[in-house]
Amino acid sequence: MKITVVGTGYVGLVTGTCFAETGNFVTCVDIDEQKVCKMKEGIVPIYEPGLDIMFERNINEGRLTFTTKLEDAIEGAEVIFLALPTPPGADGAADLSFILKVAEQLGSLIKDYVVVIDKSTVPVGTAKKVRQKIAMNCNCEFDVVSNPEFLREGVAIEDFMKPDRVVIGTSSERAKKLMEKLYAPFVMQGNPIHIMDEESAELTKYAANAFLAMKISFMNEIANLCEKVGANVDMVRMGIGTDKRIGNRFLFAGVGYGGSCFPKDVKALVKTAKDNNYDFKILNAVEDINEIQKTIMIPKIKNFFKGNLMGKRIAIWGLAFKPNTDDIREAPALYIINSLLAEGTEIVAFDPEAMDNVKKIMGDRITFVDNQYDALLKADALVIVTEWPAFRTPDFPKMIQRMNAKVIFDGRNVFKTEQMKELGFHYESIGREK
Ligand code: UGA
Repeated sequence: MKITVVGTGYVGLVTGTCFAETGNFVTCVDIDEQKVCKMKEGIVPIYEPGLDIMFERNINEGRLTFTTKLEDAIEGAEVIFLALPTPPGADGAADLSFILKVAEQLGSLIKDYVVVIDKSTVPVGTAKKVRQKIAMNCNCEFDVVSNPEFLREGVAIEDFMKPDRVVIGTSSERAKKLMEKLYAPFVMQGNPIHIMDEESAELTKYAANAFLAMKISFMNEIANLCEKVGANVDMVRMGIGTDKRIGNRFLFAGVGYGGSCFPKDVKALVKTAKDNNYDFKILNAVEDINEIQKTIMIPKIKNFFKGNLMGKRIAIWGLAFKPNTDDIREAPALYIINSLLAEGTEIVAFDPEAMDNVKKIMGDRITFVDNQYDALLKADALVIVTEWPAFRTPDFPKMIQRMNAKVIFDGRNVFKTEQMKELGFHYESIGREK
């Protein structure tokens, strides 16, 4: 099939590359000329494990091409994916201006039947708006389909190639057949394609992310309670996770959820509810809990240093909002670092991938080092914010040798409490004994 992907952000690039991988001819279009030039040379503009190899292979085999011209990109296309940004506006609602602008342009460009697919996370009713925009200038037949993505950064390729499910919102038989053909290679092992009306598909995406965010905030509150009653959140997690109705995933307490999706989507769903005269109480709480959780380590650190952090040298391990990404959007690390800086500490940070992005916004307010051990030189304490695999099994003697004091605040529970005791660390984590 000939496919166009409009927008080469994280979703667009993964979508385009994975469709090329299954034998389709994909043209990705973006207004950013520099980015398009780089992609033509085979340079992947984002960090996503496994993407670079697939990207290069499909470019070399002529199935993946790039352009800045929408008109050229849609030539002969049977389907056009819209993978454009939907940033939150001041009121929390998703800003649809990028999508609607392209929809309007498409109206005067499409010449034959084509399926236009909303891949971006868009509020309920967007497919209808896109249809209206295209129809304003269009004389030929077309369909608009809602097809939300459920990719996790860091494992996006695996999520795309082997999805738990594919959700397609359309009432057109013609579009349905085309979409089923397109996704057939990805659901060969029997994973379902759920066909539904477009509003339900649009809401499914928000409901999934909001539910997962709710699971995390719930476990964070359980963890906070564990600390008060002397329970261990790891035990509680295992105890409830083996109940199939609950499931054992997404139950890890920590310093809150971040990233570009959960915070934005929870806000947008609250706004959708509000616009429809519905007060989504549970989601307001999910957000409030997460706000508190992001800096839950600060009082613990302050307490340990008897209220005075002035001049203390604090090492930070992990800046990205989660491992295997360089993404720092809404990353808890930024909130933690800002709070610590406000207390007069000196921060030395290390992250395997995200340091360049943090440098852009923090400049020389903090020190960056090239490896996790250098961050510990003369440190009065270590704060672990992201659970990168390399942080889980460090060289403890090397750590002890470098640190000023054996003090660890672990925001992701990467170590066992007993082990830390044996090694003589003052160790505080989330929802477990000191
Ligand atoms: C999330 C969803 O998981 C994807 O299904 C969805 O497609 C995507 O948003 C999106 O809407 O584009 P992502 O933001 O990449 O994916 O990251 P997750 O792996 O879901 O993690 C989100 C946050 O939750 C991270 O900050 C992570 O540290 C935190 N988290 C996750 C916890 O605190 N505890 C957990 O048990 C799991």
